[in-house]
Amino acid sequence: MTKSVTKAVFPVAGLGTRFLPATKSIPKEIMTLVDRPLIQYAIDEARAAGVEDFIFVTSRGKSALEDYFDRAPELEAALEAKGKDELLEVLERTNMGSGAIAYVRQAEPRGLGHAVWCARKLLGDEPFAVILPDDVIAADPPCLEQMVRDYDGGCMVATMEVPRDKTSAYGILEVDDDQARLATVRGMVEKPQPEDAPSNLAVIGRYILTRDVLDTLDGQSAGAGGEIQLTDAIAAEIDAGRSVRGHRFRGQRFDCGSKAGFLQATVAFGLARPELEDEFRNYLREVVTAGTTAH
Ligand code: UTP
Repeated sequence: MTKSVTKAVFPVAGLGTRFLPATKSIPKEIMTLVDRPLIQYAIDEARAAGVEDFIFVTSRGKSALEDYFDRAPELEAALEAKGKDELLEVLERTNMGSGAIAYVRQAEPRGLGHAVWCARKLLGDEPFAVILPDDVIAADPPCLEQMVRDYDGGCMVATMEVPRDKTSAYGILEVDDDQARLATVRGMVEKPQPEDAPSNLAVIGRYILTRDVLDTLDGQSAGAGGEIQLTDAIAAEIDAGRSVRGHRFRGQRFDCGSKAGFLQATVAFGLARPELEDEFRNYLREVVTAGTTAH
């Protein structure tokens, strides 16, 4: 039977060093794809999957992110006075109901596992989702909704195939040799070199986790890269004989934590907008044909 997932954790306390100097004062998650910040894509995806409680793990310098979800009464009044109903609707989607959103602080960036653990007191015994907003996934239905539909207990991670020579950038799964949408996970390795990788199935930033994972994180020490790894805590579930499954979602994932991925997403999401499509496509064609660049 499908289980509902009503809480989601958004770990947004990383340093975002790949986007310096921008991330010196702008949280990475506020950076904009076309006209929506990354965090809005993540919130919309969570809502579509039935999430009602949104928990942000933040850190110093993330106040722009916290402010983003406040109402903007002057702006709303100005739009209303001008009869700009469409823009009002756009704004409406950014508002979060009172009490729906909670922020916890991660005092130091000690890794994704540690960030998720920081939310432990706001999570009950029910399974919860984790969404990394810098993994933007274009999918219909949205990725987390696909996962929730297939979820019936244990842990579930979103997964996709990556080129063999890129395994060292991901958590990699060892799975039973099945090609179905759901793969039983036998092991997980964080950032293995291609020759050590058990497969080319990478973990992507969507998870459904159980309380057991938080309990494991309670006592966990640092792993790869000196960080407390979420992958290690999920791998402990397998060792304890509990179910961990990989979900091969249908959709296109963009790594918006990297510059190249962010630019690719900008192109893809820009072309998907009817109001921009023609002008933008013509421009891209021109630029590619002539090989022009900004100097
Ligand atoms: P990344 O590995 O992309 O790290 O984190 P980062 O700090 O955001 O970016 P770079 O590598 O320095 O450019 C993946 C996700 O985990 C969160 C990040 O905010 C991001 O959503 N994270 C990571 C934390 O919340 N805390 C941490 O200690 C580490």
